Amino acid sequence: MCGIIGYIGRRPAYTLLLEGLQKVEYRGYDSAGIALLDDQLNVYKKAGKVKTLATYIQGKHPAGQIGIGHTRWATHGIPNDQNAHPHVSVSGQLAIVHNGIIENEEALRRELIQQGYTFRSDTDTEVLVNWIENIQRTHAYPLDKALRWALTQVVGAYALVVMSADQPDMLIAARKSSPLMVGVGQDEFFIASDCAPIIQHTDRVVYMDDHEIAIVKPGSLSMRNMEDIPLLPRVQKVDMDVEAIEKGGFAHFMLKEIFEQPKALVDCMRGRIDKTDCDIKLGGILEHLDTLSHAPSMTLVACGSSWCAGLVAKYFLEGFCRIPTTVEYASEFRYRNPIIQAGDIVWAISQSGETADTLAAIQLAQEHDAQVFSICNVAGSSIARAARAGIYTHAGAEIGVASTKTFTTQVAVLVMLALKLGRRRGTLSRTRFSELLAELTDLPAKIQAILQQADQFQYLAQVCKAAKHFLYLGRGYNYPIALEGALKLKELSYVHAEGYPAGEMKHGAMALIDQDMPVLCMATQDETYAKTISNMQEVKARKGQIVALVTEGDVQAARLADYVIEVPATYPALMPIVSVVPLQLFAYYMAVARGCDVDQPRNLAKSVTVE
Ligand code: M6R
Repeated sequence: MCGIIGYIGRRPAYTLLLEGLQKVEYRGYDSAGIALLDDQLNVYKKAGKVKTLATYIQGKHPAGQIGIGHTRWATHGIPNDQNAHPHVSVSGQLAIVHNGIIENEEALRRELIQQGYTFRSDTDTEVLVNWIENIQRTHAYPLDKALRWALTQVVGAYALVVMSADQPDMLIAARKSSPLMVGVGQDEFFIASDCAPIIQHTDRVVYMDDHEIAIVKPGSLSMRNMEDIPLLPRVQKVDMDVEAIEKGGFAHFMLKEIFEQPKALVDCMRGRIDKTDCDIKLGGILEHLDTLSHAPSMTLVACGSSWCAGLVAKYFLEGFCRIPTTVEYASEFRYRNPIIQAGDIVWAISQSGETADTLAAIQLAQEHDAQVFSICNVAGSSIARAARAGIYTHAGAEIGVASTKTFTTQVAVLVMLALKLGRRRGTLSRTRFSELLAELTDLPAKIQAILQQADQFQYLAQVCKAAKHFLYLGRGYNYPIALEGALKLKELSYVHAEGYPAGEMKHGAMALIDQDMPVLCMATQDETYAKTISNMQEVKARKGQIVALVTEGDVQAARLADYVIEVPATYPALMPIVSVVPLQLFAYYMAVARGCDVDQPRNLAKSVTVE
């Protein structure tokens, strides 16, 4: 949430920062800004996207070899020029970019006002930069000491970079509960909220931990903790392709990422599915298989689409392993004093590995001595590092705000986990195991077949684009996919959509159905098919418009529908990985048809590092 980029080195900083901002824009995009140090501190910032900032700066000749930049997702104050980052202290000497929320900003602001400070913005960040300056001024501290001191008085989360006109050869960065890393180049350094703006310059990064401070100067990087004790920077190689963060000829990142799903699934299963030995190998949790297969119960914590993936996993873990499984919204779990006992198994699912609520849920579980495992897409992310062990989804970088390939690979990882544990527990027969294993490897081709028919969703979107509401119905394995499909439609096309268990409709939601209510019914072949048909009849009887998602060759459900989407046949347990793809395509084309910003939907951001 919000993107940060900082540069210090020998090259002109402006172009590097602007390109960097374009790469982190997916994290927040309501305003953008850059501060550069040359003979003096120059700040350029504008409400709107990075391209608006670039136009604003054109002809202003921004100069300097050191600078910081930011794309914002508003928390304190509306998205306007004043509230955009960087923020500058009253003296004009310090500039800061900041992700996160300073929870005690009001108290700090009051104290500064008493001392005569005035503020130009509504942000907690402007308070913070003045708080640092106030300490620096009153105690005559050097900047690093003033920053450390200030941060001990701050409650909340931050990833920040500070630059000082008094010390024009230095950037200082600090992190608590919001990601930040240092890219180590040849006589130059980058500081960023994720790898995307760094990898075209260097593949060597230092992931900062909470309560760490990094001081970069041309040619030197020093890391310290909050007690000012030096730390050894651990330089790691990043495994990310520059191509992964380009659109590659697609109109949007989201479309590219939907089409990348066959490959993402192959990458996710590579080296894990062993058909010869009829086995699944999950290296990341190898040492913990005994513990996991003897678990009396499991809790899965996640948010948004990752939560929907968790809900699919409940069906796997209970069905194949007979392990009672609870799926929790991390934001609820962390605050409701849940019952957690020492040794309990908790899985945190997060594509970004940075979601604040999920991280807090992990911390809570660990405080109660639970054993926490993670399923993440981003290697080295905070959640992956906080967990005892975990499984990466290997979907590749996902830039579009909507989760697509990270969702299907999460489900793939979760099914592999459940199959593995089911075999070990003896609750899943070898025959069934090997059937599912073989079918898993056929899924990429089945998804490819759906993608070849992508044009039909363009047509369906034209038909449906004026709808104000949508109901998605599903049963069993398709129920979490109905929820995920509705979430996709809401977030991308701003059409109100609700996912519902088909059997629950008659207990209330049926009152909504009339000729203006399109209902997407997931009616693929499984043991609840006949029941779903009855629900479709009920919708039809009330003149609802039915879009039916059916297994190829289906006649019965198709006959009831106004529009039919066919998907290739697979085992019901694996259907979620297939049936979600048409729903992603439909949401995508609805957004395009309604003129919405597909990759950067309003009010959202890719990784949600605030509460
Ligand atoms: O990075 P995470 O998986 O932890 O993110 C959780 C949600 O914010 C995320 O799944 C969100 O719901 C999706 N991007 C929506 O498509």
